[in-house]
Amino acid sequence: MRAVDERDAYANLLTPRLLRDRGLKGRDAALVTELAYGTLRGLGTYDAIIAICSDRAPDPAVRDALRLGAHQLLRMRVPPHAAVGTTVDLVRQRIGPGAAKFVNAVLRKIASRTLDEWLPIVAPDLADDPSGHLAVVHSHPRWVVSAFRDALGSGIEETAELLAADNARPLVTLVARPGRSSRRELLDAGAEPTRYSPYGAYLAEGDPGQIAAVAETRAAVQDEASQLVALALTRVPLGPPSSPRPGSSEGELWLDMCAGPGGKAGLLDAVAVYGDTGHDDTGYDDTGYDDTGYDGTANDGTAPGGQSVAGPEEVEGGGSGSEAAAEGGRPVPFREGAEDERPVAFPGGARLLAADVQQHRARLVAQTTAHAGVVTADGTRPAWRPGAFDRVMLDAPCTGLGALRRRPEARWRRDPASVAELGRLQRALLNTALDATRPGGVVAYVTCSPHLAETRVVVGDVIARRDDVEQLDARDYLPEVDGLGDGPHAQFWPHRHGTDAMFLALLRKRA
Ligand SMILES: C[S@@+](CC[C@H](N)C(=O)[O-])C[C@H]1O[C@@H](n2cnc3c(N)ncnc32)[C@H](O)[C@@H]1O
Repeated sequence: MRAVDERDAYANLLTPRLLRDRGLKGRDAALVTELAYGTLRGLGTYDAIIAICSDRAPDPAVRDALRLGAHQLLRMRVPPHAAVGTTVDLVRQRIGPGAAKFVNAVLRKIASRTLDEWLPIVAPDLADDPSGHLAVVHSHPRWVVSAFRDALGSGIEETAELLAADNARPLVTLVARPGRSSRRELLDAGAEPTRYSPYGAYLAEGDPGQIAAVAETRAAVQDEASQLVALALTRVPLGPPSSPRPGSSEGELWLDMCAGPGGKAGLLDAVAVYGDTGHDDTGYDDTGYDDTGYDGTANDGTAPGGQSVAGPEEVEGGGSGSEAAAEGGRPVPFREGAEDERPVAFPGGARLLAADVQQHRARLVAQTTAHAGVVTADGTRPAWRPGAFDRVMLDAPCTGLGALRRRPEARWRRDPASVAELGRLQRALLNTALDATRPGGVVAYVTCSPHLAETRVVVGDVIARRDDVEQLDARDYLPEVDGLGDGPHAQFWPHRHGTDAMFLALLRKRA
């Protein structure tokens, strides 16, 4: 918690490392994780209670200890004397006896009431100030509550359900990348099928990294909505190309413009090469899978292990970008010699070019994809020719307000100014994504945020200034999912779908 506060550490990255370093496993590891994540999520509520119980504003380290004690007293089944005693001991050792005395006094006051008794005392009245009430009760910044209310467009009850879902621990969701793994392989490892995605599986317990398919990047941890928005992009029928694309004779070219760390690129890459095999629940081939059987011309410009990620100059000058993605032979759609070959979804095959502005993130994409070309490139200054691609995924940098379940401290990190700042970048990237798409081709604009200023407003502003774009009804390409809103975009929600609050707009470039 100190690292999160002092140096903006990410709890979900740091905690597993600390647990490993200290050799904590099983129930101990679960307890530490609950203490850290639960306290970070709940601190909006706890700070309101701490403020009433103390006569001065505590120093940051003391405040963290009070939050930790409050979480144990109000939301965990730790006996009060243990919650107070261990917290006071910790403060005495780490900060000093004076602070320990103060913490003891404040925690005793907190322990005098239950959470349900405290909430009416510290939260504004629901009728007078609905957003303020929900902000304290569900521990979200008030501006985030207001943004969620606007995006949901429904009553206060549903907003409360959404906020509660943000505070619940999400299931780990896996994806079996088609042709490289199968859902059967994940089910055999103890996972359960997901609700909507034919490639998804929930892992209730255990370390996903221990599953062979995940360790070998044939499967991965990926939110179900993230899987579905990638699939939706691949399902849109393309218009006929108005002229032959230079440098490409057949097959489709796909671009993932903001690909790092590679979740969507990993799925797109597999679907591009092996087709959408997900209608068959048993997966494509889970016996005798042999990675070496696939076409070795894949991953243009990227050595196995992803060391040689190309820079933008190489793409412009050296031809290892979109053109390279079209060259080097067509990928073999199915494992050579496979007995039950199925029709490939994309006649002539498809190839993916994945880009990210940050080299280390592009490297992660290279490590997780098997066939894609990967480049380090700034999407606002395209390293590819206009109109080069049939399908473009723009998973835009955003506030991440749709993934608060998985990032305990994230809700406290952003502010309304960051929305405006990101909005400029999102508009620029959407324009270049559309420019990169050939007439008849399609762009998926995706954010892991439901904030209207990052979703509908960005799409509306960009298409209002162009005459070469029509918006498709994204829900038509997600027929298995209900409750995605009034369209034409699709909005996933944690409380409705058990997924991140991911947004999808599908835009066709007019022929
Ligand atoms: C929401 S994340 C993408 C997540 C990814 N699609 C996945 O599914 O794993 C946004 C990414 O955009 C990248 N990015 C930010 N600005 C960019 C730019 N101007 N050009 C290309 N990538 C950019 C970030 O480095 C980040 O990796």
